[in-house]
Amino acid sequence: MCSLSLGPVPWDGYRSRLWGGVERGVRPESGDGLGASLAPGYERRARRTTFEAVRSATERREALKELLSTARGCTRCAELAATRTSVVFGAGNADADLMFVGEAPGANEDLQGLPFVGAAGKLLETLLGEIGLSRTEVFIANVLKCRPPGNRDPRPGEIENCTPYLIGQIELVAPRVICTLGNFATKLLRSDPAGITRVHGQVEVRTIGSHTTRLFPIYHPAAALYTPRTMEALREDFRALPGVLALPPPGPAAPLEAAEPPTTEPEPASIAPSGAAGPVAEQLGLF
Ligand code: URA
Repeated sequence: MCSLSLGPVPWDGYRSRLWGGVERGVRPESGDGLGASLAPGYERRARRTTFEAVRSATERREALKELLSTARGCTRCAELAATRTSVVFGAGNADADLMFVGEAPGANEDLQGLPFVGAAGKLLETLLGEIGLSRTEVFIANVLKCRPPGNRDPRPGEIENCTPYLIGQIELVAPRVICTLGNFATKLLRSDPAGITRVHGQVEVRTIGSHTTRLFPIYHPAAALYTPRTMEALREDFRALPGVLALPPPGPAAPLEAAEPPTTEPEPASIAPSGAAGPVAEQLGLF
């Protein structure tokens, strides 16, 4: 049995907490608030829907730092651990209402230890600016915390290894809305193989770990950089984002009918111990 102290994320239970706990989503309907402006009715932190509500933002941020410390010592993916320069945990406002989940760090992110610092990140910042937000107001993470060599696609076993960190981040930041960027994050957090082209721009209520939130899948900015039509669709989805944020806090989602976890590789027998929780979050300006 693997045991890992990931703060609020028990290692053994994460699959059932993600896939068993994800609930059938709610498709947007007319009059659900999409397209409304951010300001009216947009009450920050009006109501949290999980036990995290009773923990202060400071406590959750401290727990996030512990999770970061654990992730920094992670060697579950031997190849990624051996080839990475840094663990790109995530960055931004640890109490954000809006979280973005991308795919995996690239070369620039690996060097700097920060997510989305390359061309795709610049586009993300531009699109955020167009709706009156900055990257310091949101939290940005990835499915994988380590760069796959040569920017190859994340492998199923790597995704499985890294998912507890993402669930922990979601539970601790407890965002009202999560934008999944592209196919990997979307398929993982929806626990459904439907691709981004089919589901982008559609709001769904989902419970991930212990946190009920709204998922809002959108195209990955890197894809939009090279395809004008994708850029157009991404911009349009971004324009709907203030309306999604203005929706009332999500209630419980309906029960999931059948969710199969992706095929996975066997669990490794052990996991590296976590490093001491140090001041790295502050040093890197992570959150
Ligand atoms: N693409 C991603 O998915 N994540 C990053 O951090 C950078 C590029």
